[in-house]
Amino acid sequence: MLNEYHCWLQRRTVKNPALQAPVLQTVYAHSGGEVASQAAEEFRRGIERLLGFSPAMYPLSAGTGESVGVYLGTIATLEKQLPRAAGKLCAGGFVIKTAGKNLLIAGQDEAGLLYGVFRFLSLLAQGKAEDNIDLQEEPASPLRIINHWDNLDGTVERGYAGPSLFYRNGHFDYDPQRIEDYARLLASVGINRISINNVNVRAEAKLLITEAYLTDAAALAAIFRRFGIRVFLSINFGAPWSLGKLPTADPLDPAVTTWWKERAALIYRYIPDLAGFLVKADSEGEPGPFQYGRTHADGANMLAQAVKPHGGEIIWRCFVYNCQQDWRDHSFDRARAAYDHFMPLDGAFDDNVILQIKFGPYDFQVREPVSPLFGALRKTRHIMELQITQEYTGHQIDLCYLPWLWEDIMRFDTAYGPDSRIKDLIGQHSEGRFPIEGFAAVANTGLDRNWTGHTLAQANLYGYGRIIWNPALSAAEIAREWSVLSFGFGPAAHTAENLLLKSYPAYEKYNAPFGVCFMVTPGLHYGPNIEGYEYSRWGTYHRADAQAIGIDRRPAGTGYSDQYAAKNAALFADPASCPENLLLFFHRLRYDYIMKNGETLLQNIYDTHFEGYDEAAAMLEQWKGLKNVLETDVYQSVLSRFERQLANAREWRDQINTYFFRKTGIGDKRGRMIYE
Ligand code: GCU
Repeated sequence: MLNEYHCWLQRRTVKNPALQAPVLQTVYAHSGGEVASQAAEEFRRGIERLLGFSPAMYPLSAGTGESVGVYLGTIATLEKQLPRAAGKLCAGGFVIKTAGKNLLIAGQDEAGLLYGVFRFLSLLAQGKAEDNIDLQEEPASPLRIINHWDNLDGTVERGYAGPSLFYRNGHFDYDPQRIEDYARLLASVGINRISINNVNVRAEAKLLITEAYLTDAAALAAIFRRFGIRVFLSINFGAPWSLGKLPTADPLDPAVTTWWKERAALIYRYIPDLAGFLVKADSEGEPGPFQYGRTHADGANMLAQAVKPHGGEIIWRCFVYNCQQDWRDHSFDRARAAYDHFMPLDGAFDDNVILQIKFGPYDFQVREPVSPLFGALRKTRHIMELQITQEYTGHQIDLCYLPWLWEDIMRFDTAYGPDSRIKDLIGQHSEGRFPIEGFAAVANTGLDRNWTGHTLAQANLYGYGRIIWNPALSAAEIAREWSVLSFGFGPAAHTAENLLLKSYPAYEKYNAPFGVCFMVTPGLHYGPNIEGYEYSRWGTYHRADAQAIGIDRRPAGTGYSDQYAAKNAALFADPASCPENLLLFFHRLRYDYIMKNGETLLQNIYDTHFEGYDEAAAMLEQWKGLKNVLETDVYQSVLSRFERQLANAREWRDQINTYFFRKTGIGDKRGRMIYE
């Protein structure tokens, strides 16, 4: 039976495992550092959870190779047992192999061992642990990061799953067992970094880097460390001024430089393996180098030098744009901002600065083009930022399976030469080589018992880990894995998988088809408000009038399309070749524009909104089919979300259709109900 708390690590008896119990009853485990010990413990727990017995645990030295059992170690410590040299894998890589009567799980390093253990347990739970395994895996992305937007008062910015896991009333306040369980979930899908506080560092969060908070921060970091996860702290660029009482936070001021060096030294005394700082600067009101007439490279490098002696890195966000825009001014285009700010700085950053670039040029919309910085940056370390929390994608009330989008992102061809799809560009940074080093994503978790509010939204957390580990995985494969791991074999898993795969297209249809973006309620970002952002300062307009809608981003318009490699620039600049799901992002089109299906744009707007609603209704009905299959509480909690989703979809459908009907005076050609 499903226990929502355990997510994809359910307690469940796996019947007839191909690997027979004798080999699994005895474990010889490398007792290296704490991650290796945790790996052994995870193996023991996992076998107990899936097969119902606890294997006997011995040190690796007790296993001769003759003694039948499971051997857990690093590739180096299992050299003798590994029949042929495994070769050097990337950090986090592992081998799972049956050798004679034994099973070997060998990590390139201790974290690799931990991931190997979790992969083996996952295969076992999915009924895929053959009696003759020979598997070798490496993570595609070296950096696999979760960003928490948790505030110290216990709220979570854009959080839809209850209060913060870490804080309450201005202080660290957490259940260590819960954090351990969280770290386990994250490590089980390969996460190796976590930032623990909101990128908007306000109120008490500014004090996180003071001694009053660092003991508690270190205790939290210690839990994650056992699972191979290193902690980042988000910092406020203005701290030398606001905290240190210096007259300035100018990154080129020697007093400021010294202040940060001393501050870093202090922090590293408490958390010696701190991954570094995450910085949102000059963005949406946060302080930054622009205030002092300095560049983002000046700001980031100054911090980088402060953490460098301690092995730290600076993750610097590229979400920098003018949020004081005048809607009257059509010449300024927010979509251009990240590229305009950061492309000229390519090569200007220190080697321990990593730029964190949102996947699209706007802000986590249901459909945006992939940012033109990817593929273009040649001399700067960088990662991609995704959002697991469903800010614009339904607040974890509406079901919206995000790997559907992420698969598209991974397959987007940046068109900078051969093998230039996003998934081809991911890799390890080395001298002169600057691939996409990985991903960061805003967490969708909180204190709700099921972690994610909507139980099926657990698939988004799972899917994030899986797809950044292996970007060749499809959304469908991930949905299947998750459904089986969560619901076992049977109708519930089948329904869940099916619903996940239907959910994204349905949401996109009733929310913002054709890349139109931002018709959402300002601030809240749930439910429709079609002109909510039209006359605001945020720079996200669709400019619908009686004849046309969308922004002209061709060279003749704002020129955004020209930020792409030539092939893509041409592709996007022509409405005939522009992918239709991005048509209104790149083009301003008349409502009578004929789309590929032969219908007008207006008719397509009506059709998608009617269809999106109908699909949401069908999802609700499909879920009802599990009434007598699932535990009542799980069934009911998801049911009530599908019901709320349907009400939301109805508002989107009717408000949008009515809006365009009123603008154009043209009705639906199929005669469906559009309210006046
Ligand atoms: C969005 C979001 C904010 C967040 C910001 C960011 O604008 O609405 O809550 O702070 O992104 O990514 O920094």
